[in-house]
Amino acid sequence: MRAIVITEPGGPEVLVWQDVPDVEPGPGEVLVDVVATAVNRADLLQRQGFYPPPPGAPEWPGLECSGVISALGAGVTSHAVGDEVCCLLSGGGYAERVVVPAGQAMPLPPGVGLIDAAGLPEVACTVWSNLVMVAHLQRSEWLLVHGGGSGIGTMAIQVARALGARVAVTAGSQAKLDACAALGAEVLINYREQDFVSVLDAETGGRGVDVILDNMGAKYLERNISCLARNGRIVIIGMQGGTVTELDITTLLRRNAAVHATTLRGRPTSEKVEICQEVERHVWPWIGAGIVTPVIDRVLPITDAARAHTALEAGDATGKIVLEVRPSG
Ligand SMILES: NC(=O)c1ccc[n+]([C@@H]2O[C@H](COP(=O)([O-])OP(=O)(O)OC[C@H]3O[C@@H](n4cnc5c(N)ncnc54)[C@H](OP(=O)(O)O)[C@@H]3O)[C@@H](O)[C@H]2O)c1
Repeated sequence: MRAIVITEPGGPEVLVWQDVPDVEPGPGEVLVDVVATAVNRADLLQRQGFYPPPPGAPEWPGLECSGVISALGAGVTSHAVGDEVCCLLSGGGYAERVVVPAGQAMPLPPGVGLIDAAGLPEVACTVWSNLVMVAHLQRSEWLLVHGGGSGIGTMAIQVARALGARVAVTAGSQAKLDACAALGAEVLINYREQDFVSVLDAETGGRGVDVILDNMGAKYLERNISCLARNGRIVIIGMQGGTVTELDITTLLRRNAAVHATTLRGRPTSEKVEICQEVERHVWPWIGAGIVTPVIDRVLPITDAARAHTALEAGDATGKIVLEVRPSG
């Protein structure tokens, strides 16, 4: 089989479509003939040598895919050969075939084809697990999503609106803010031109926001805390603004606030399976009803993975970039 291999740590040019050893499903796993995969920020870090795959995962990137099951490992009774699925992976999605624990191979959401489905597992699982299972976002609460035009951001806005929450976003361009507004965001902040703390102070009448989904880490921590309402929760999922900062803890005490930091990829299989089950139960019906839609910026052939990385790195995508591995028809 072939896969996009990271030939050495570096720029997009190190991604090469080449032969790799075939993969076989172990007990409890299914083998998937991949139709499409999608690009995540983490893939860029892995390519640069900063985010090695967890033990047991293939060396080649790809945290999600869609495809058709072509073999079952021992003991798998929940799936059948020929099932169309979309999968949450620990790696290896940029390939013709991948093995995945059966519980992480979800049916396609109603009305969604294999190409669009490739860009759903990572964002749906990350957003659901953090907004609902960690931060317990409630109806009528305010959510701030940093990077609202990202793959994660475009899903977070829609899930929060489906939960009945109100959404503020930051983004770096008017085009991305417009896209966020179309998905249901009410407060639109251009982080290049505006201070999100003072905008939110004005927009919430000094109350602050209840939950923040943060991709910036250290750079935003102090400002994030300063715009939290009482009992506010921050969930840090990205470190685009660094990992180390100094903090006056009284800013948390005064608000009775919580700061969480999570990663999906490193979680044990049992937790990922539970998240997939919740996503299938709650998010897939919203997609079927048209309340939540996949936001796909573009679809490129897998051999254009380098071009896709260049585009995501440059911020030149709203939502997901999907890579087609083989024709779905
Ligand atoms: N912990 C986890 O389990 C997990 C899982 C998935 C993703 N993530 C993280 O979630 C984030 C989004 O992932 P993705 O794959 O959707 O990435 P992506 O599409 O590449 O998005 C990155 C985003 O960062 C935004 N950004 C850059 N500088 C910013 C700033 N100063 N303030 C606010 N936003 C800024 C960009 O906004 P503009 O383009 O508008 O400038 C862009 O929307 C990444 O940090 C990723 O590592 C974490």
